[in-house]
Amino acid sequence: MTNLRKDVHKIIMKAGMMILKESRSRMSIRTKSSERDLVTQIDWNVEMFLKEKLQKLLPDSSFLAEETEAEIKDAEKLWIIDPIDGTTNLVHGFPFLAISIALQIEGELKLGFVYNPFMNEFYESEKGQGSLLNGKSIRVSATQTLSRSLLATGFAYNFANAEENNIRYFEHFHRRCHGIRRPGSAALDICYVARGVFDGFWEWYLNPWDVAAGILLVTEAGGKVTDLSGKPYEFTADNILVTNSTIHTEMLSEVTELIS
Ligand code: IPD
Ligand code: CA
Ligand code: CA
Repeated sequence: MTNLRKDVHKIIMKAGMMILKESRSRMSIRTKSSERDLVTQIDWNVEMFLKEKLQKLLPDSSFLAEETEAEIKDAEKLWIIDPIDGTTNLVHGFPFLAISIALQIEGELKLGFVYNPFMNEFYESEKGQGSLLNGKSIRVSATQTLSRSLLATGFAYNFANAEENNIRYFEHFHRRCHGIRRPGSAALDICYVARGVFDGFWEWYLNPWDVAAGILLVTEAGGKVTDLSGKPYEFTADNILVTNSTIHTEMLSEVTELIS
């Protein structure tokens, strides 16, 4: 795995350079599921680059990536990729976005990488080996209670017609903690739980590519991940709760009255 990690690191650094370089020119922007669901040519270019390079590293692997049809030839080795998590931030010049890549082998997350090229933050994790930020070990916070916590969340692109638009949850938690941030990149939000900046994160209607790498990073750093009803998180779940472990039960008990 060590060599594979080094090779993936090099590929991600090159992809990060692409994002930095291409974002300096005029961006070609399109919309997807709604007027606010943006995608740029850079998302597409980065995804193509990553798939080509990762395929060469592991020729028998498959891909689940945001911008292209899933290529699940033989799902024994599966790369789960978000070429840019935080595209809205990229479009508006807010430097909080990341490349997110996870490698799942026989259904188990083995490697996770999240890289923000604007802040030069490289998060890396291997199953059973802990998590690193720029080569240094990271751990979740020691915060004991919700009332002393800083939380993060996000709002889905289908906000206008979503069955659950997350506002009730936002209001409920906002009354009970130090504050809530909405930075705009679920992958990085989860890494910020892993490194002990945020104490908890939740969101509705995320996709596997938003969370796969983050899940390994945060669990390897001592965090906990379930859905909002406390069940083990699965990629098919409608919602996710990520915490430093300590405040998990308290956050779950807070939402019992909200979850329908
Ligand atoms: C989005 C970001 C955002 C979250 C959205 C995601 P994208 O991913 O992670 O923080 O609130 O739900 O879709 O579209 O920038 O890859
Ligand atoms: Ca995403
Ligand atoms: Ca994306």
